[in-house]
Amino acid sequence: MPRSGHKPRSPSAAPAAEPPSRGADTAAPGEREGSSRFAWKPEYSVGIEEIDAQHQELFRRAGLFIESLRRQSRQEIGILLSFLRLYAVTHFGAEEAWMREAGYPGTEAHEKQHDRFIKDILELSDQHERKNGPGIEPARVAGWLEKWLKNHVTSADVELARHLKATGLPPPKPEEPPA
Ligand SMILES: [Fe+2]
Ligand SMILES: [Fe+2]
Repeated sequence: MPRSGHKPRSPSAAPAAEPPSRGADTAAPGEREGSSRFAWKPEYSVGIEEIDAQHQELFRRAGLFIESLRRQSRQEIGILLSFLRLYAVTHFGAEEAWMREAGYPGTEAHEKQHDRFIKDILELSDQHERKNGPGIEPARVAGWLEKWLKNHVTSADVELARHLKATGLPPPKPEEPPA
């Protein structure tokens, strides 16, 4: 299966760009749902610092996207959905490079879960962009995103981390940015 769009990039968790934000003090009641629903909890830890840091960033971006759905600014929703997708591609790429290097036997199945997620996010983007379409259904999407992330991180990623820890292989070096 071609792995387009899944090029491992820097496994560092630091996001380069910040999305537009209205600031916490201007949030309307209920807008915090995204941040509390996707708040990081120690029970999500896979026991590997690099992966945990990336998951925290993934959860943060998921929360920002879900919050934006309440504000109903088409532009902001689109930007935050891309902001989430880009980091998911980066994180999945880093995990996949590491699991291949470590000879993880569950690589193919794990990559399939990642691929499916990116495909679903791209479908959401299409839905969102479609003129006169029904758009994104906030409650359904929030439920799906929360379930997927928590389930993947606490099962597939925990299993992967167990293997990585057992092999003792350090994370692969981040790819050099093009000169
Ligand atoms: Fe992960
Ligand atoms: Fe994963």
